[in-house]
Amino acid sequence: MRLKDKVSLITGAASGIGAATARTFAREGAAVVVVDLNDEGGHRMVDQIRDAGGSAEFVHADIGQPREVEAMVRAAVDRFGQLDILHNNAITTTAGHIGEIALAGWQKTVDVGLTAYWYATRCALAEMMPRKRGVIVNTASISGLGGDYMLGAYNAIKAGVINLTRTTAIEYARKGIRCNAVCPGPIATPALLGALNVQPGHIADRICQAIPMGRFGEPQEIANLVLFLASDEASYITGACFVADGGLTAHTGMPSLFGIGPEW
Ligand SMILES: NC(=O)c1ccc[n+]([C@@H]2O[C@H](COP(=O)([O-])OP(=O)(O)OC[C@H]3O[C@@H](n4cnc5c(N)ncnc54)[C@H](O)[C@@H]3O)[C@@H](O)[C@H]2O)c1
Repeated sequence: MRLKDKVSLITGAASGIGAATARTFAREGAAVVVVDLNDEGGHRMVDQIRDAGGSAEFVHADIGQPREVEAMVRAAVDRFGQLDILHNNAITTTAGHIGEIALAGWQKTVDVGLTAYWYATRCALAEMMPRKRGVIVNTASISGLGGDYMLGAYNAIKAGVINLTRTTAIEYARKGIRCNAVCPGPIATPALLGALNVQPGHIADRICQAIPMGRFGEPQEIANLVLFLASDEASYITGACFVADGGLTAHTGMPSLFGIGPEW
């Protein structure tokens, strides 16, 4: 077991990437604090983990509220005695062109998707520092590495998460604490599939066409990467961002000069 006797906290663990990571951490021996706004999904996740013989606790928190972030970290330590792994993962976002995004939507996106990542990191560091050990894994995105039409608020928070990761890493590297980010491409989670459901079907096809592997990723394919970064196998890795996107960002975007596309 790669996370035996570790205590982890995962935000947004009721669904998608967070849920896959919660199951994976539990399978590898970690106790999992499942944090989410969604009580039903959070309790379901805890039941799944316990039914499989693992250890988990649900904590309801809106990570956009600093008091609730403090409470979730306190709850992890009260229940399991320590905190070894923080996985900042939950977000909310708003769509729209830069010239049209509503101020309230921008602010909520930043509160949940960037400020909360920093504040949870700050609260977790207070628990990790005295023990001189700990791991933080932030879910960023390939959307933090470039721009996407209509996703300017999302692009801004994800770029912020990447640099928050780097600064956390360098400042705490000699304190025994590592911090890394994962940058997924399009992953088949309720968030993405829900957004695509309200779009014409050909949008999903066009996205898959743009991905060299020709398909969306699965949440488990990101959970596998988060597990590696959270485990001692990644003991010399800090301040890094790992892309898992089926090759999407490896492409310049330039159509083939020879007229031969990805399905040659
Ligand atoms: N799905 C993708 O294509 C994709 C691609 C790149 C990055 N990501 C990133 O992966 C992470 C997870 O996304 P997902 O696709 O699994 O989403 P998801 O919607 O399946 O899961 C997100 C979870 O976060 C919870 N949540 C939302 N706001 C919250 C809040 N304020 N407090 C606590 N919990 C809250 C939701 O209830 C939900 O259970 C996000 O950071 C997202 O940006 C996703």
